[in-house]
Amino acid sequence: MMPPTRLAGTLIPAMAFLSCLRPESWDPCMQVVPNITYQCMELGLYKIPSNIPTSTKKLDLSFNPLRRLRSYSFSNFSELQVLDLSRCEIQIIEDDAFQGLKHLSTLILTGNPIQSLARGAFSGLSSLQTLVAVETNLASLEDFPIGHLKTLKKLNVAHNLINSFKLPEYFSNLPSLEHLDLSNNKIQNIYHKDLQVLHQMPPFKLSLDLSLNPLDFIQQSAFKEIKLHELTLRSNFNSTDAMKTCVQGLAGLKINRLVLGEFKNERTIKDLDKSALEGLCNLTIEEFRLTYLDDFSEDCIGFLNCLANVSAISLVSLYFNKLEGFPKDFQWQYLKLANSKFQYFPTLELASLKKFVFTDNKVLSPFTEVNLPNLEFLDLSRNGMFFKGCCSHRDLGTTRLKHLDLSFNDAITMSSNFLGLEQLEHLDFQHSSLKQANDFSVFLALKNLLYLDISYTNTHVIFHGIFDGLFSLQVLKMAGNSFQDNFLPNIFTNMQSLTVLDLSKCQLEQVSQVAFSSLPKLQLLNMSHNNLLFLDTLPYQPLHALRVLDCSFNRIVASKRQELQPFPSSLASLNLTRNDFACACEHLSFLQWFKDHRHLLVGAEQMLCVNPSDMEGVPVLSFRNSTCQMSKTIISVSVLTVLLVSVVAVLVYKFYFHLMLLAGCKRYGRGESTYDAFVIYSSQDEDWVRNELVKNLEEGVPPFQLCLHYRDFIPGVAIAANIIQEGFHKSRKVIVVVSQHFIQSRWCIFEYEIAQTWQFLSSHAGIIFIVLQKVEKTLLRQQVELYRLLSRNTYLEWEDSVLGRHIFWRRLRKALLDGKPKSAEGTEDAESSQHLATTPAWEGKPP
Ligand SMILES: *[C@@H]1O[C@H](CO)[C@@H](O)[C@H](O)[C@H]1NC(C)=O
Ligand SMILES: *[C@@H]1O[C@H](CO)[C@@H](O)[C@H](O)[C@H]1NC(C)=O
Ligand SMILES: *[C@@H]1O[C@H](CO)[C@@H](O)[C@H](O)[C@H]1NC(C)=O
Ligand SMILES: *[C@@H]1O[C@H](CO)[C@@H](O)[C@H](O)[C@H]1NC(C)=O
Ligand SMILES: *[C@@H]1O[C@H](CO)[C@@H](O)[C@H](O)[C@H]1NC(C)=O
Ligand SMILES: *[C@@H]1O[C@H](CO)[C@@H](O)[C@H](O)[C@H]1NC(C)=O
Ligand SMILES: *[C@@H]1O[C@H](CO)[C@@H](O)[C@H](O)[C@H]1NC(C)=O
Ligand SMILES: *[C@@H]1O[C@H](CO)[C@@H](O)[C@H](O)[C@H]1NC(C)=O
Repeated sequence: MMPPTRLAGTLIPAMAFLSCLRPESWDPCMQVVPNITYQCMELGLYKIPSNIPTSTKKLDLSFNPLRRLRSYSFSNFSELQVLDLSRCEIQIIEDDAFQGLKHLSTLILTGNPIQSLARGAFSGLSSLQTLVAVETNLASLEDFPIGHLKTLKKLNVAHNLINSFKLPEYFSNLPSLEHLDLSNNKIQNIYHKDLQVLHQMPPFKLSLDLSLNPLDFIQQSAFKEIKLHELTLRSNFNSTDAMKTCVQGLAGLKINRLVLGEFKNERTIKDLDKSALEGLCNLTIEEFRLTYLDDFSEDCIGFLNCLANVSAISLVSLYFNKLEGFPKDFQWQYLKLANSKFQYFPTLELASLKKFVFTDNKVLSPFTEVNLPNLEFLDLSRNGMFFKGCCSHRDLGTTRLKHLDLSFNDAITMSSNFLGLEQLEHLDFQHSSLKQANDFSVFLALKNLLYLDISYTNTHVIFHGIFDGLFSLQVLKMAGNSFQDNFLPNIFTNMQSLTVLDLSKCQLEQVSQVAFSSLPKLQLLNMSHNNLLFLDTLPYQPLHALRVLDCSFNRIVASKRQELQPFPSSLASLNLTRNDFACACEHLSFLQWFKDHRHLLVGAEQMLCVNPSDMEGVPVLSFRNSTCQMSKTIISVSVLTVLLVSVVAVLVYKFYFHLMLLAGCKRYGRGESTYDAFVIYSSQDEDWVRNELVKNLEEGVPPFQLCLHYRDFIPGVAIAANIIQEGFHKSRKVIVVVSQHFIQSRWCIFEYEIAQTWQFLSSHAGIIFIVLQKVEKTLLRQQVELYRLLSRNTYLEWEDSVLGRHIFWRRLRKALLDGKPKSAEGTEDAESSQHLATTPAWEGKPP
């Protein structure tokens, strides 16, 4: 038996080993387009995966350690059109490796250290057009077995070890070849005999790239009578002399496009001599390009005299600061001067020039007049240049101009309305600062203008006639500007042809209801990045051809009206992303509209509510009708609850004392009465109460104990509480002293009402009415209850005669005796508390 530690020590490495050996079919390739495109990049595959459909047309197997391609490796993929085998560590490609790939048009073998390439490796590739064998250790084209690939158009063998430019015989068998990229190889010398085969190839078809070869020498007349489409020689020479020799060696070449110069980060030539390019005189060139040459000083430009008959010339990144005095008879039609350190705008007088591109030069001086009578295309963008007056034919010396690009410059003062430039079709001012564009109809003369871009030109539109005259305009871009009061007025009149209108980033809040009424052909309207609050701020109904409406990045909450006007039926895309949608029930119809039009809306699924805060981040589409019905019930329930609570509160408030009475009843119960009667009276009648009532009842036989507020109420306790606790709860009866004053006192009436409740609550209790003086009927009537009681019940009337008094007291005593316990006596309580009786005058105070 193996000890457990030993066992683990054996098993763990074994498992690790097994996990390295997992079968490659376990790793699924990425399906980019089902049955068509598969991506198996960097999956550690050792062989071609077998789980890929045979219908696959594009297969990317790059970065897998395939190492060896055997015969018929791809026979299961007869439909393949593109096969990428970049960096698969392939060293050996056997005969017929690609046999069966009749439809393969592109084969990429980049970055494989091929050591053995069988003669028949590429056989069967009857449709191959592009073969990329960059960085494949290729040492010579001679042995490269591609002679039978008649369909080959592009051969890229850059970054190899090829040291001879001898083009093998089989090139005459490649009639379709258009591009041969031999850049970054080891070619130093080019001899006449190397290029013999080029004479047998179709003229002006082949483009040759020899950049980054350490060229030293080109034999005189090696290229004589050879006709190429393009030759590129960049970063080839390590000295002016080498360059001079080689350029001279090109003599006699007829070529459509010659590209010379260096790469931005591959500079080798120091101290360029003006003689270096003189050899160009012996070439026939259609188009000449020169890029990235340091020290390209003014005296070097003499070579341009050799290029007088060239039709297109492009000088890019050459660091010269002045360019002047070309003879007028130069035949240039196209001139490009870009990314060079011109400090002054060149004075040009070239009768032939039709197209002039002058961009990315950091010009410090203002634009100066040029005289280019045939100029049709002028691009002066990205120079940071300023224009004192723009624009008329006098500035340019042409009336044929169709395309004018002044974008990305400094200030441009609009001082003339394109006089003599009526042919203009394309006008671009974006990101320059337009001055005085608002003062008059600057574009009035441009009847033929199709395209106008004044985006980000600091234009503040006040003048409504700014676009007058632009009858043919199809595209108007004016993003990043502003309008008076952030209101878009009706400035697009007579623009019947307009199809694209960009008003994004214009801070717009309001739009005139007739702003778009004369744009029947408008297809794209961009209102993004504005401050619209409602979708129906836009009068989109007249836009019968509208296809794309971009209202993203606004502050749209919903629609203003309940029902949105229908959008034009042509609308195919509506971008409402990044707005402030309010997912609230008040916008229910808008949210329903949103759901109904989700097919139109860009990214509808991803759009989120912003308001109210509890809905923030919730997808707009997930807003439910039922939420609103629910909340309706919730609202009605809560409204009802609130109502109920307030009614109860009002009732409690109103009957607070009655309730206290009720509570008190329970607490005190029967037989605990301290007083025989609680006397309710008006303080105006206090004299009578003290002198008559108290004297007669408390000092008579039997004595009665009266509860009198001025005497018996406990000081410091709320009056209302006293009335109830001391008055009602501790008294058997209530004596109500009715008088004129009593009726008029709110407080007394209140006490009386409580007394009634009290009477109602305790059955043994009784109210004794004493009418002290005749009360006016009208006054009494105001107290309906009291009036009714007095007219229905008997009451004691105070009379100031001897007999009357006698009867009065007898009747009162009798009434008080009713229900009095036999043993009852006056309590000491009453005596002792008598001296405490200092009651405030409390009549009339609110409870
Ligand atoms: C892919 O091919 C399989 C088998 O040929 C077929 O069943 C399937 O429908 C195809 N899928 C697509 C998307 O064409
Ligand atoms: C081609 O497919 C068949 C059946 O799927 C398989 O048996 C065979 O090994 C495959 N051939 C190659 C070269 O992958
Ligand atoms: C230029 O290249 C040649 C050959 O490649 C070499 O002999 C020579 O020394 C190089 N000159 C400079 C200045 O690098
Ligand atoms: C090239 O042109 C020069 C004059 O610029 C002339 O002397 C020389 O013979 C020409 N060479 C060829 C090969 O045509
Ligand atoms: C340009 O062409 C004209 C006329 O065809 C010719 O006289 C002149 O020598 C040519 N110039 C150059 C530099 O090739
Ligand atoms: C609208 O303009 C914005 C910014 O100006 C831009 O990002 C967006 O792509 C434009 N929309 C359309 C549909 O062109
Ligand atoms: C709005 O959506 C359209 C269509 O997808 C897109 O072209 C446009 O760029 C979007 N707008 C913004 C500001 O991203
Ligand atoms: C939502 O309400 C609208 C009417 O307001 C109705 O047409 C629609 O069917 C409702 N949708 C759902 C899912 O209840």
